[in-house]
Amino acid sequence: MCGIIGYVGSRSAQPILLDGLRILEYRGYDSAGIFIPGSGVCKAVGPIDELVKVCTDTSTGTSGIAHTRWATHGQPTEANAHPHHDMSETLWLVHNGIIENHQEIKEGLRARGVTFYSDTDTEVLVKLIGTFHQGNLRQAVQAALQVVRGAYGLAVMYERDPNTIVAARLGSPLVLGLGNDGNFVSSDPSALLAHTKDVIYLEDGDIAVLTNDSYEIISQRGAPAKRVSTTVDWSVEQVQKDGYPHFMLKETHEAPEVITNTARGRLLPEAGNVKLGGLEPILDRLSNLRRLHVIGCGSAYYAGLVGKYILEEYADLPVEIDLASEYRYKRTYPEKHSAILAISQSGETADTLASLQKAKQQNLLTLGVVNVVGSAIARETHAGVYNHAGPEIAVASTKAFLSQLTVLALIAVLIGRQRGLSRTDGQDIIRAIGDLPNLLRTTLGLEDQIKEIATRYHTYEHMMFIGRKFHTPIAYEGALKVKEVSYIHAEGYAGGELKHGPIALLDADFPVVALAPYDDVFPKMLANIEEVRARQAPTIVITTADAPEMGTLTSDTLVMPQTHPIVQPIVTTLVLQLLAYHIGVARGHNVDRPRNLAKSVTVE
Ligand code: G6P
Repeated sequence: MCGIIGYVGSRSAQPILLDGLRILEYRGYDSAGIFIPGSGVCKAVGPIDELVKVCTDTSTGTSGIAHTRWATHGQPTEANAHPHHDMSETLWLVHNGIIENHQEIKEGLRARGVTFYSDTDTEVLVKLIGTFHQGNLRQAVQAALQVVRGAYGLAVMYERDPNTIVAARLGSPLVLGLGNDGNFVSSDPSALLAHTKDVIYLEDGDIAVLTNDSYEIISQRGAPAKRVSTTVDWSVEQVQKDGYPHFMLKETHEAPEVITNTARGRLLPEAGNVKLGGLEPILDRLSNLRRLHVIGCGSAYYAGLVGKYILEEYADLPVEIDLASEYRYKRTYPEKHSAILAISQSGETADTLASLQKAKQQNLLTLGVVNVVGSAIARETHAGVYNHAGPEIAVASTKAFLSQLTVLALIAVLIGRQRGLSRTDGQDIIRAIGDLPNLLRTTLGLEDQIKEIATRYHTYEHMMFIGRKFHTPIAYEGALKVKEVSYIHAEGYAGGELKHGPIALLDADFPVVALAPYDDVFPKMLANIEEVRARQAPTIVITTADAPEMGTLTSDTLVMPQTHPIVQPIVTTLVLQLLAYHIGVARGHNVDRPRNLAKSVTVE
């Protein structure tokens, strides 16, 4: 939600900032702006391309700050776009987050004669900083931040001191980049890869002062803080489209190599077990767990739902699951020998983070399945497993979701082997995970067929996805994917629920996607498919090679590879991701940047 980038150094800042914004665009794309001391500000409503059109000044300034916005306060207008300035128009600020007490501060400032030109909480913040500014920008920022409540990742510049950026973080992500010809600040390290891989993740409460050849970090307590720099292991190519028309397609096609990376070094085929370094120190506690509570948002929540099925089935572990946006507010009953597991691609989803913090206060063991190394959620947990899916840029999660399911299967084996899963059963699962990249390659081979089906179904205004057991959450995820990228009204249901209401919706204008791999609930799914067909609903059946002939039951059938039930959902999901992608494209949408959505939801 909103991306910020700043640079101070010896190179021309404008191209660095604009290129950085393009990479951060997934965080928000309703307006953008850039400030370069000496050349001033330019802003535009719409995606970064619009900003590029108006930033025609061939600026030679070697420092600046920039922002891409996902509106929270105020319409996406030019006036509301960042950077925002103080009363003197010499202080400029970019901000990602929310200032909760902005109204109260605004009234106080108004009483002192301060006027406002936008509807944003960010303008209130920069005007507040302005009232404290007497030449020392860092002190002014520090003083203002003591007054505000809320979340922020921010960068401020004073026009008359172009060699300094002051950055601060609380709640929203912020990372410093240390380069040879200057220093950077960004919401996400992916925007820095072309310049440096040396980064420092700021901690909550940190204020950093960056110049072209130095940086200083002050902690919440006001004292200088030492923060270790880390090397990002992502490559520049990973954040480029690489010839694909969309990141979503590229990331979907990366599935085989993503699963290889997620499983690399973690499979012990002989022992029928896995090695998860991040969980090793707490292995004893995991074996003795009485209950695991899983939380997440969006697709991560659906991954958690699959996790519940597989952990209960293969690890003999009772699992409860909640949306993080609910868990954090509901009454919880922390028990001895229980733990909480947060699933998050970005590692920065506000509700997931807040739920973890709540669980920590209740003395629960906190675990994470996180993709972004060093992210807030990763740092908030006692132990965890990284996905190693690489950067995911398209707003709708694809490859990260597949890797989350893979990690959950690995965790099921790890805990399962301590609690009665036999070596032979473990070996079967390990073999299936090892074979998965090849199966996913075969699945990608179905793309032409999927695309052809998408061209025939993209004009419908409704769609229903049904599945059972491990595939119930996959039906939810399939519906979510279609909603996100095609804006078709899509519903996901457990097959058994069909007769309890949703079947009333079905007719010839309401297609159904039935997830029917050949497993123990296959006969039940067949019955559902018959019911659906009896209502004249066009049907797409996604089944597996081993399934018996379905005769004339279906309109459209996609036959995917058959594998172990624990990883079958991964194969099915890849089919659904391709289906959603091609439906979205056929409807003419920018599938990478669906309307009203942002990739990381860092506000609540
Ligand atoms: C947003 C994204 C989803 C993602 C969800 C949770 O809604 O658009 O794709 O599943 O956030 O994000 P997380 O980073 O916590 O997995």
